[in-house]
Amino acid sequence: MTACPVSHELLDIEYEWDKLPVPSSLREFEAAWSNRRNPLDYSGVWRFRKLLPFASDSQIVTIGEGQTHLQQTDAVGKYIGLNSKQCYLQYEGMNPSGSFKDNGMAAASTHARIVGAKVAACASTGNTSASLAIYGGVTGLFKVIVFVGSGKIAYGKLSQALDYGAVTLQIQGDFDDALEKVRLVSKEAGIYLCNSVNPFRLEGQKTIMYRVLEGLGWEIPDWIVVPGGNLGNSSAFGKAFIELKQLGLIDRIPRLAVINAAGANTLYDLYQHHNLRWNAGRPDQTLIDKFYADMDTQNRRANTLASAIEINRPVNLKKCLRALQACDGVVREVNDTEILNAKAQVGAYGFGCEPASAASVAGAKLLREQGVIAPSDRVVCILTGHQLKDPTATVGYHAPETDEAKKLAKSGVNQCSFKNTPIPVANDLQQILSVIRGLK
Ligand code: F0G
Repeated sequence: MTACPVSHELLDIEYEWDKLPVPSSLREFEAAWSNRRNPLDYSGVWRFRKLLPFASDSQIVTIGEGQTHLQQTDAVGKYIGLNSKQCYLQYEGMNPSGSFKDNGMAAASTHARIVGAKVAACASTGNTSASLAIYGGVTGLFKVIVFVGSGKIAYGKLSQALDYGAVTLQIQGDFDDALEKVRLVSKEAGIYLCNSVNPFRLEGQKTIMYRVLEGLGWEIPDWIVVPGGNLGNSSAFGKAFIELKQLGLIDRIPRLAVINAAGANTLYDLYQHHNLRWNAGRPDQTLIDKFYADMDTQNRRANTLASAIEINRPVNLKKCLRALQACDGVVREVNDTEILNAKAQVGAYGFGCEPASAASVAGAKLLREQGVIAPSDRVVCILTGHQLKDPTATVGYHAPETDEAKKLAKSGVNQCSFKNTPIPVANDLQQILSVIRGLK
């Protein structure tokens, strides 16, 4: 069960902190880091287990998730418009399945084990399915069934689900359709559901923020910028900061910027144009219902090359509103051209990331241009997924004559400002040398 049977609102995890051994300072977690031989301390999720204390050590599932780092980069900072030393990228592509999802899946798998689940399922734009599949495959604890939309998943991700042995159902339609179906099927068939409707997923994803703070020597940045799809991350980040403040472990909460793709901008539209707010736990349901009813009448479907966030019905909408309230947040949208240009800059100067991840960098740039983020602000952009997840988008961007490039152009992306085009050259020593000598 992931929602209250009466209100239908998603469940949320609350701890009785006064009965739990809460750390006296965040620095305590650094000590765990030095105890790397213990898999629970090695895990970038579970070394913070006192802040997600729902399982005993013997119940915890880990495959070494969360070995991810905060990287400072002046080159990407310059692109965004920040002063030197102020731009950081939290690179979640270093997780075992190549995306941030492993943070949440470690926690959801642990809960699945606690309740003795034998089959687990999710709907996915690709990364959730890759993550669930790897947890099922490595641990052998449960069989995995994934629901993906037809033709709506990047090949790198589909290949992972298949290779890790998940039963893969390609549902006609998009992610929103697949999620609706997997929720019904899981309920009907008693299958453990691992989408971010599952509140344990969010518990694991809180740790991304703990690692960011750890990377900053426990200083609080001015901004956290994150792509918004199903809004699990933004919701989890808000919860992490609310709890840390409540526990007296931080004295200030950073501001949160959630970035939608323009072709999948439900949060942006509702927050920016319809003034939907958390409203002390009572967001205007009529407004939300009307928005979705209009969406259905007009048959508006999500449409962006950032396929990971091609989502029109974000299930964590209300929890995200809570996060935005707690973090004095803002919401913006960026188009596919802006996303792919930002991605190319991350690739050239950072580590590479998949398109959806680059929405954070494109969004930070936009907020800088609008004067919302100041040049002197310390900004952390979350890079949610690995560059190799979606080679089609990358090749299309850089290689003009390819089918991939035609796909991009068809989607309206023609202004590839940082193209690194392959150079055709004859298989001839002199001609190769002359090309190399001509390079600037
Ligand atoms: N970035 C990447 C790389 C993702 O895979 C996703 C979500 C998001 C951002 C959005 O995060 O949902 O927490 O707002 N991917 C899901 C999936 C939907 O099925 O893999 P969110």
